[in-house]
Amino acid sequence: MIKTVLVSGGAGFIGSHVTVELSQAGYEVVVADNMSNCDDTNYKGVCAILGKEPPFINMDFCDSSAVAKLFADYKIDAVIHFAAFKAVGESVAEPLKYYRNNLLSFLNVLEAARQSGAAVLFSSSATVYGEPEELPVTEASPRLPATSPYGNTKQICEDFLRDCCSAYGLRGTALRYFNPIGAHPSALIGELPRGVPNNLVPYITQTAAGKRERLSIFGNDYPTPDGTCLRDYIDITDLAKAHVCAVRRMLDGKMESGYEVFNIGTGRPVSVLELVNAFEKVNGIRLNYCFAPRRAGDVTAVWADPSLANEKLGWKAVRSVEETLAAAWAWEKRISLHEE
Ligand code: UD1
Repeated sequence: MIKTVLVSGGAGFIGSHVTVELSQAGYEVVVADNMSNCDDTNYKGVCAILGKEPPFINMDFCDSSAVAKLFADYKIDAVIHFAAFKAVGESVAEPLKYYRNNLLSFLNVLEAARQSGAAVLFSSSATVYGEPEELPVTEASPRLPATSPYGNTKQICEDFLRDCCSAYGLRGTALRYFNPIGAHPSALIGELPRGVPNNLVPYITQTAAGKRERLSIFGNDYPTPDGTCLRDYIDITDLAKAHVCAVRRMLDGKMESGYEVFNIGTGRPVSVLELVNAFEKVNGIRLNYCFAPRRAGDVTAVWADPSLANEKLGWKAVRSVEETLAAAWAWEKRISLHEE
């Protein structure tokens, strides 16, 4: 029996890559998105990669009747919830916008799952670990108080899911992503931020493409080997495959408890400067960059211990930073410079 997976926010960066991997693994995928933060570029790319059009529903997950209708129209075995706002700075300026959208949409998903019995995968973030005292972080590392409403919504949604699994017997998984970067090897789908990018890799690729004059490296006086922050950059295709493993584990009855949490990272810290240098080297480009003051809210260093996901999900990040940065640049060239 082919199982059906609903991907909310499926037209976005992570959602589109997950749609491809799930489909290629033999799942039926229903894509739903309200297109509030993207256009149809990635959905079209998904269709081109797959050679077919997964059902697409334009809807808002904050609309409880639309969510109920979706679950009535399709027999959903699992739902992966990506539909959320994700800009840290904006969440500080507009907390109600973030709390309303990110919490209400997930409550509606959970209500539908409670009624239908669908398994639930929530897209969480390493942001829940704050500035960790010990590195690498394991799933047992403490969640520290969130430093932004965005981060707080990740913690609250994890708690919503944990409590619903325990009260209603739902199956739930939270995947804590470290820093997802890159693009599909086909260059048909990738990251398409609106306006000025907040995140490092789209800023790098847009600078290389001439859309931004210069990259600012925020802080070179951190207590790290080269003074710039350390992160765990995870290839988007590797990250997407972790979702297939997690969905399979839930649907095949392999979970060890109703609610499970996994770090999705490489276990390898990379500094901002190392990433910039690797981008220049692999793509043969000199990047215009300068050092700038620290960005408020940034943590010095965070990277994953991914061994729980390696062992229990049978998943491992395999792509090198170089391959990932080459894919990011191929995508940017296709989108901005129209090079095939
Ligand atoms: C942030 C969020 C994370 C969220 C992710 C994706 C926090 C603490 N982090 O991660 O939860 O999932 O975005 O939206 O809430 N940098 C520069 N110049 C730039 C941009 C970034 O030097 O123009 C540096 C940053 O200082 C940081 C690193 O690059 O050290 C990575 O930044 P970014 O890509 O924004 O991701 P995070 O802040 O790690």
